[in-house]
Amino acid sequence: MTALDLGRIGIGTMGLSPGVYGDVTDADAIDVIRRALDAGVRLVDTADAYGGGGENEKLVGKAISDRRDDAVLATKFGYVGPDQGRRVEIGYRMKLFVDGSPEHVAAAIDASLRRIGADHIDLWYLHFPDPEVPIEETVGAMAEQVTAGKVGHLGLSNVDASQLRAAADVHPIAAVQGEYSLWSRDAERELLPACRELGTRFVAWGPLGSGFLADSRFLAGDVPEVPRTDFRSRNPRFAPENLSANADRFAPLRTLAAGTGRSTAQLALAWLVARGVVSIPGTRDPNHLAENLAAARLALSEAELAEIDTLFPAGVAAGGVFKEA
Ligand SMILES: NC(=O)c1ccc[n+]([C@@H]2O[C@H](COP(=O)([O-])OP(=O)(O)OC[C@H]3O[C@@H](n4cnc5c(N)ncnc54)[C@H](OP(=O)(O)O)[C@@H]3O)[C@@H](O)[C@H]2O)c1
Repeated sequence: MTALDLGRIGIGTMGLSPGVYGDVTDADAIDVIRRALDAGVRLVDTADAYGGGGENEKLVGKAISDRRDDAVLATKFGYVGPDQGRRVEIGYRMKLFVDGSPEHVAAAIDASLRRIGADHIDLWYLHFPDPEVPIEETVGAMAEQVTAGKVGHLGLSNVDASQLRAAADVHPIAAVQGEYSLWSRDAERELLPACRELGTRFVAWGPLGSGFLADSRFLAGDVPEVPRTDFRSRNPRFAPENLSANADRFAPLRTLAAGTGRSTAQLALAWLVARGVVSIPGTRDPNHLAENLAAARLALSEAELAEIDTLFPAGVAAGGVFKEA
């Protein structure tokens, strides 16, 4: 099995389907993915759940169809339709259902390959663990797809350290994907140390705090409310009562950026690069893409890293987890 070359910064494609962060056409979405590959990005991150009905996987398939070998193609499975599988609580007022049964594992890989138009997936993640199927069982079934040649490497997403350890006893876990950024640092307590111990790469989702850390309108406190059509309206950190508190708490990020000629997005991403994790920022905008990718080459000094750590400690962001009423 060849080692995975994920690079430092990949591209997350969730927001390249309409209805997540706003409008985007297929042509523009495909253009962004191809520009990323042109710029040397390796990791392209999709999921069977993105876009509804596998539409995001189809989009990624079109974007890489004539350059499959340029990409490390990562997708995820596990979320299923309403009232199938088991209900899970992710804390964003969303009713989500998962199925990690061996039957679903076998069906999911074939469906993803068909939609993408590929004969193998380089990195295949369980998107969210099934509370009623032991993770060892799900990963055992995923490993059969490695043996079958349909998958190169296995990954897990949204797991804790004990789930990672249990899974790694069944099959090597090449990557774990979890939320990690200047405003979400929980992974530092147990998950990142477990990854280091097991030789598992950590891939940070939401590296720009779902845009908060990159968008000057949020950071300036100019957005009083997020429209309900934007999925962030379900995120407690974007609730009206927390938007201005978070603008205050992250104001020093603007000051740091202004003083160095780097954008806040670049500082947020360069901090992740310095931590040795891979990030997968999402964008629909070619200029944002170029700005984000340039962060891979920005070396922050030890003093800058220490200052950022002090300014934005774990727990600094306002907004807990919304539970379903
Ligand atoms: N495993 C999981 O459960 C999970 C969950 C969520 C996400 N993910 C993955 O992680 C990827 C990234 O997460 P994410 O997209 O939710 O959050 P993100 O990358 O933290 O933020 C994306 C937001 O930031 C904005 N943005 C990006 N670069 C910018 C820049 N330079 N300046 C200003 N704004 C900028 C984007 O808007 P524009 O389009 O306008 O640039 C978009 O609104 C997803 O695409 C997906 O692949 C995985």
